[in-house]
Amino acid sequence: MRPLHLLGLAIFLTWSVQPAAADESYYQQGKPTRDGIGKVYMDREISYVMGHLGAGWLERPDREREERTDLLIENLPLEYDDVIADIGAGTGYFSFPMAERVPDGKVLAVDIQPEMLDIIARRIEAGAPANVETLLGTETDPNLPDAAVDLILIVDAYHEFSYPREMGEAMAAALKPGGTLVLIEYRGEDRRA
Ligand SMILES: C[S@@+](CC[C@H](N)C(=O)[O-])C[C@H]1O[C@@H](n2cnc3c(N)ncnc32)[C@H](O)[C@@H]1O
Repeated sequence: MRPLHLLGLAIFLTWSVQPAAADESYYQQGKPTRDGIGKVYMDREISYVMGHLGAGWLERPDREREERTDLLIENLPLEYDDVIADIGAGTGYFSFPMAERVPDGKVLAVDIQPEMLDIIARRIEAGAPANVETLLGTETDPNLPDAAVDLILIVDAYHEFSYPREMGEAMAAALKPGGTLVLIEYRGEDRRA
Protein backbone atom coordinates (compact mmCIF):
# COMPACT_ATOMS: atom_id res chain seq x y z
CA MET A 1 0.00 0.00 0.00
CA ARG A 2 1.31 3.47 -0.89
CA PRO A 3 2.04 5.88 1.99
CA LEU A 4 -0.87 8.16 1.04
CA HIS A 5 -3.29 5.24 1.12
CA LEU A 6 -1.89 4.21 4.49
CA LEU A 7 -2.44 7.73 5.82
CA GLY A 8 -6.01 7.69 4.47
CA LEU A 9 -6.67 4.36 6.18
CA ALA A 10 -5.24 5.62 9.48
CA ILE A 11 -7.41 8.76 9.36
CA PHE A 12 -10.51 6.66 8.58
CA LEU A 13 -9.80 4.22 11.43
CA THR A 14 -9.21 7.05 13.88
CA TRP A 15 -12.38 8.78 12.75
CA SER A 16 -14.50 5.63 12.78
CA VAL A 17 -13.81 4.78 16.44
CA GLN A 18 -14.57 8.28 17.72
CA PRO A 19 -17.84 8.49 19.65
CA ALA A 20 -20.44 10.93 18.33
CA ALA A 21 -19.70 14.49 19.40
CA ALA A 22 -22.26 15.92 21.82
CA ASP A 23 -25.31 17.09 19.91
CA GLU A 24 -27.33 19.56 21.98
CA SER A 25 -30.22 19.46 19.51
CA TYR A 26 -31.39 16.20 21.12
CA TYR A 27 -31.88 17.96 24.47
CA GLN A 28 -34.21 20.65 25.75
CA GLN A 29 -33.39 23.11 28.51
CA GLY A 30 -36.09 23.94 31.04
CA LYS A 31 -36.32 25.25 34.58
CA PRO A 32 -34.45 22.96 36.97
CA THR A 33 -36.59 21.14 39.54
CA ARG A 34 -35.29 20.29 43.02
CA ASP A 35 -33.47 17.11 41.90
CA GLY A 36 -32.61 17.97 38.33
CA ILE A 37 -30.44 20.14 36.10
CA GLY A 38 -33.34 21.32 33.93
CA LYS A 39 -31.98 19.52 30.87
CA VAL A 40 -34.51 17.15 29.31
CA TYR A 41 -33.93 14.05 27.18
CA MET A 42 -36.84 11.94 25.91
CA ASP A 43 -39.29 13.69 28.29
CA ARG A 44 -37.11 13.06 31.36
CA GLU A 45 -35.25 15.69 33.33
CA ILE A 46 -31.62 14.72 33.93
CA SER A 47 -30.53 14.58 37.58
CA TYR A 48 -27.64 16.17 39.39
CA VAL A 49 -24.50 14.06 39.63
CA MET A 50 -24.16 12.64 43.13
CA GLY A 51 -20.96 14.19 44.44
CA HIS A 52 -18.15 12.08 45.86
CA LEU A 53 -18.92 13.44 49.32
CA GLY A 54 -21.95 11.13 49.21
CA ALA A 55 -19.69 8.07 48.94
CA GLY A 56 -20.60 6.92 52.45
CA TRP A 57 -24.27 6.71 51.46
CA LEU A 58 -23.44 4.27 48.65
CA GLU A 59 -21.72 2.02 51.21
CA ARG A 60 -24.44 2.30 53.90
CA PRO A 61 -24.91 -0.92 55.91
CA ASP A 62 -28.65 -1.14 55.11
CA ARG A 63 -28.16 -0.98 51.36
CA GLU A 64 -28.05 -4.71 50.70
CA ARG A 65 -31.33 -5.24 52.56
CA GLU A 66 -33.05 -2.18 51.03
CA GLU A 67 -32.04 -2.81 47.43
CA ARG A 68 -31.34 -6.58 47.51
CA THR A 69 -28.01 -5.89 45.83
CA ASP A 70 -26.98 -9.45 46.75
CA LEU A 71 -29.68 -10.83 44.43
CA LEU A 72 -28.58 -8.53 41.64
CA ILE A 73 -24.96 -9.66 41.81
CA GLU A 74 -25.94 -13.32 42.15
CA ASN A 75 -28.19 -13.20 39.09
CA LEU A 76 -25.87 -11.41 36.68
CA PRO A 77 -25.15 -13.68 33.69
CA LEU A 78 -21.36 -13.82 34.12
CA GLU A 79 -18.62 -16.20 32.93
CA TYR A 80 -15.38 -16.61 34.91
CA ASP A 81 -13.36 -14.79 32.23
CA ASP A 82 -15.77 -11.98 31.33
CA VAL A 83 -14.74 -8.36 30.92
CA ILE A 84 -17.28 -6.15 32.68
CA ALA A 85 -17.71 -2.40 32.61
CA ASP A 86 -19.31 -0.84 35.70
CA ILE A 87 -20.36 2.56 34.40
CA GLY A 88 -20.82 5.18 37.10
CA ALA A 89 -19.02 2.84 39.47
CA GLY A 90 -18.92 5.26 42.41
CA THR A 91 -17.11 3.60 45.30
CA GLY A 92 -16.99 0.22 43.53
CA TYR A 93 -19.91 -1.14 45.54
CA PHE A 94 -20.74 -3.47 42.63
CA SER A 95 -17.30 -3.62 40.95
CA PHE A 96 -15.63 -5.66 43.69
CA PRO A 97 -18.24 -8.39 44.19
CA MET A 98 -18.50 -8.72 40.41
CA ALA A 99 -14.71 -9.03 40.17
CA GLU A 100 -14.87 -12.06 42.47
CA ARG A 101 -17.23 -13.71 39.99
CA VAL A 102 -14.80 -13.20 37.05
CA PRO A 103 -11.45 -14.41 38.47
CA ASP A 104 -9.94 -14.78 34.96
CA GLY A 105 -11.60 -11.62 33.68
CA LYS A 106 -11.76 -8.08 34.95
CA VAL A 107 -14.01 -5.18 35.85
CA LEU A 108 -13.43 -1.77 34.32
CA ALA A 109 -14.76 0.68 36.88
CA VAL A 110 -15.68 3.87 35.03
CA ASP A 111 -16.61 7.18 36.60
CA ILE A 112 -16.37 10.87 35.72
CA GLN A 113 -15.29 11.83 39.25
CA PRO A 114 -11.58 11.13 39.85
CA GLU A 115 -12.32 11.21 43.59
CA MET A 116 -14.56 8.15 43.22
CA LEU A 117 -11.82 6.35 41.27
CA ASP A 118 -9.34 7.25 44.03
CA ILE A 119 -11.63 5.54 46.56
CA ILE A 120 -11.64 2.41 44.37
CA ALA A 121 -7.84 2.53 43.98
CA ARG A 122 -7.41 2.82 47.75
CA ARG A 123 -9.68 -0.20 48.26
CA ILE A 124 -7.49 -2.24 45.91
CA GLU A 125 -4.37 -1.13 47.81
CA ALA A 126 -6.10 -2.29 50.98
CA GLY A 127 -6.62 -5.79 49.55
CA ALA A 128 -9.86 -5.66 47.53
CA PRO A 129 -9.82 -7.75 44.32
CA ALA A 130 -7.10 -6.48 42.02
CA ASN A 131 -8.88 -7.42 38.80
CA VAL A 132 -10.72 -4.10 39.03
CA GLU A 133 -9.24 -1.35 36.86
CA THR A 134 -10.28 2.28 37.17
CA LEU A 135 -11.09 4.27 34.06
CA LEU A 136 -11.86 7.99 33.93
CA GLY A 137 -14.77 8.69 31.61
CA THR A 138 -16.24 11.94 30.33
CA GLU A 139 -19.86 13.11 30.25
CA THR A 140 -20.19 11.78 26.70
CA ASP A 141 -17.84 8.79 26.63
CA PRO A 142 -16.83 6.06 29.10
CA ASN A 143 -13.55 5.73 27.17
CA LEU A 144 -13.90 1.97 26.84
CA PRO A 145 -12.13 0.06 24.09
CA ASP A 146 -14.28 -0.92 21.10
CA ALA A 147 -16.02 -4.33 21.11
CA ALA A 148 -14.15 -5.38 24.24
CA VAL A 149 -16.78 -5.77 26.97
CA ASP A 150 -19.06 -8.76 27.67
CA LEU A 151 -21.38 -6.99 30.09
CA ILE A 152 -22.05 -3.41 31.05
CA LEU A 153 -23.66 -2.71 34.42
CA ILE A 154 -25.20 0.68 35.19
CA VAL A 155 -26.72 1.00 38.65
CA ASP A 156 -28.37 4.23 39.77
CA ALA A 157 -26.26 6.28 37.36
CA TYR A 158 -28.10 6.54 34.02
CA HIS A 159 -30.42 9.24 35.38
CA GLU A 160 -27.31 11.38 36.04
CA PHE A 161 -25.84 11.05 32.53
CA SER A 162 -25.86 14.58 31.11
CA TYR A 163 -25.44 13.17 27.58
CA PRO A 164 -27.37 9.87 27.66
CA ARG A 165 -27.62 9.64 23.89
CA GLU A 166 -23.87 9.95 23.38
CA MET A 167 -23.15 7.61 26.31
CA GLY A 168 -25.53 5.06 24.78
CA GLU A 169 -23.74 5.14 21.45
CA ALA A 170 -20.32 4.80 23.07
CA MET A 171 -21.48 1.92 25.29
CA ALA A 172 -22.99 0.09 22.31
CA ALA A 173 -19.64 0.41 20.53
CA ALA A 174 -17.81 -0.99 23.59
CA LEU A 175 -19.95 -4.14 23.85
CA LYS A 176 -18.79 -7.30 22.14
CA PRO A 177 -21.29 -8.68 19.61
CA GLY A 178 -24.02 -10.36 21.69
CA GLY A 179 -22.87 -8.53 24.84
CA THR A 180 -25.29 -7.61 27.63
CA LEU A 181 -26.35 -4.28 29.09
CA VAL A 182 -27.85 -4.36 32.59
CA LEU A 183 -29.52 -1.11 33.57
CA ILE A 184 -30.82 -0.66 37.13
CA GLU A 185 -32.74 2.41 38.24
CA TYR A 186 -34.83 2.70 41.38
CA ARG A 187 -37.47 5.27 40.45
CA GLY A 188 -39.97 4.75 37.62
CA GLU A 189 -40.12 8.07 35.77
CA ASP A 190 -41.14 7.10 32.26
CA ARG A 191 -44.88 7.74 32.02
CA ARG A 192 -45.03 5.56 28.90
CA ALA A 193 -43.59 2.50 30.68
C1 LIG B 1 -25.52 7.48 42.56
S1 LIG B 1 -23.86 7.05 42.09
C2 LIG B 1 -24.02 5.27 41.91
C3 LIG B 1 -22.68 4.54 42.07
C4 LIG B 1 -22.73 3.02 41.91
N1 LIG B 1 -23.22 2.62 40.61
C5 LIG B 1 -23.58 2.42 43.00
O1 LIG B 1 -24.74 2.05 42.74
O2 LIG B 1 -23.08 2.31 44.13
C6 LIG B 1 -23.75 7.59 40.39
C7 LIG B 1 -22.33 7.67 39.86
O3 LIG B 1 -22.39 7.88 38.44
C8 LIG B 1 -21.34 8.73 38.08
N2 LIG B 1 -21.62 9.33 36.74
C9 LIG B 1 -22.52 10.30 36.43
N3 LIG B 1 -22.48 10.54 35.10
C10 LIG B 1 -21.56 9.70 34.57
C11 LIG B 1 -21.09 9.46 33.25
N4 LIG B 1 -21.53 10.13 32.17
N5 LIG B 1 -20.13 8.51 33.08
C12 LIG B 1 -19.66 7.81 34.13
N6 LIG B 1 -20.07 7.99 35.41
C13 LIG B 1 -21.01 8.92 35.62
C14 LIG B 1 -21.26 9.72 39.21
O4 LIG B 1 -20.01 10.36 39.24
C15 LIG B 1 -21.51 8.81 40.43
O5 LIG B 1 -20.31 8.31 40.96
